[in-house]
Amino acid sequence: MIAPCRHFEQGWPAEDLPQCDAGLRALRRNLLTGALPRPCQTCPTQPECTTTELRDRITLLELVDENREVEAVINALRSRDCVPSHDLMYRVAHTRTGYQFIGSGLVNLFEMLPVLTPHLILPVQHLLDWGCGCGRLARHLIGDPRFTTYTGCDIDTEAVEWCRAHLAGGTFLTIPPEPPVALAAGTFTAVIGYSVMTHLERHLQLRWLTELRRLTAPGAVLALTVHGEAAAARNGLATRLSKEGIIDEIPDVTLQNVAPAGYYRTTYQSRAYTEMHWGALFEVLEYRAGAILDYQDIVVLRRQ
Ligand SMILES: C[S@@+](CC[C@H](N)C(=O)[O-])C[C@H]1O[C@@H](n2cnc3c(N)ncnc32)[C@H](O)[C@@H]1O
Repeated sequence: MIAPCRHFEQGWPAEDLPQCDAGLRALRRNLLTGALPRPCQTCPTQPECTTTELRDRITLLELVDENREVEAVINALRSRDCVPSHDLMYRVAHTRTGYQFIGSGLVNLFEMLPVLTPHLILPVQHLLDWGCGCGRLARHLIGDPRFTTYTGCDIDTEAVEWCRAHLAGGTFLTIPPEPPVALAAGTFTAVIGYSVMTHLERHLQLRWLTELRRLTAPGAVLALTVHGEAAAARNGLATRLSKEGIIDEIPDVTLQNVAPAGYYRTTYQSRAYTEMHWGALFEVLEYRAGAILDYQDIVVLRRQ
């Protein structure tokens, strides 16, 4: 029997494990919608109390990954790390709240890393976070023992400068909107590209893939997200996508005055399109449809 939690989410009866599980899952969903969990109801002036009670409960429930997410978010919030300006957060995640910015980064990594890391075979891992923005993922990736070094790059100079000034332990660089990048061939063994290809037109995608092949060592693994069939269906584009394979002309104004005019788009591509065109440059190790919140797909590639 779990000791009743008197200090967190009174709506979850501690002796009812399915309800507690449901409560934790709801908390995880809230991280993505920006809704704050109801913290300590009994002593709201003592947030420590909430955290301790929640951690005990998390340990007892053994909801492995989801518990780690919740606990990591609580820790991140407790540490009161500074967050970027509202504008910078909005550019990468369409949110202006620090809570959602930190939480959504963690949730997305809990979806990306279990797909990427089983494929890492090289003895030392040098990670490139391609399109790091203002460090939504970087703040959680730096110091991850699975990666010896972390490098983030982006075309958004202001975002990169913010990372440089605030996120110790990583290397950050501004890169041009079109390749090449001023780094040596074979520098990286792992690449995460979260929601970058989702914004590039087809020819630019292939040019950047070619550049990523140059920047990675043989055996390196890349996890890149795309808008596939699930995202297209949600936006009423399923039929068109099945006929055309890729839809890449829809403008996205989020990076107005940051990216060159017409550069930033919302791109959808079918699994068949991606496997055929990307497969010409990399070995496609896995294709996880809807792996990111039933919306974005993760494509895992190996550099041969
Ligand atoms: C939707 S945001 C995602 C940012 C970050 N990966 C995250 O998950 O928070 C897309 C990012 O890709 C960057 N970007 C766009 N084109 C790029 C390119 N060719 N190379 C690197 N970054 C690029 C944008 O500036 C923006 O920061």
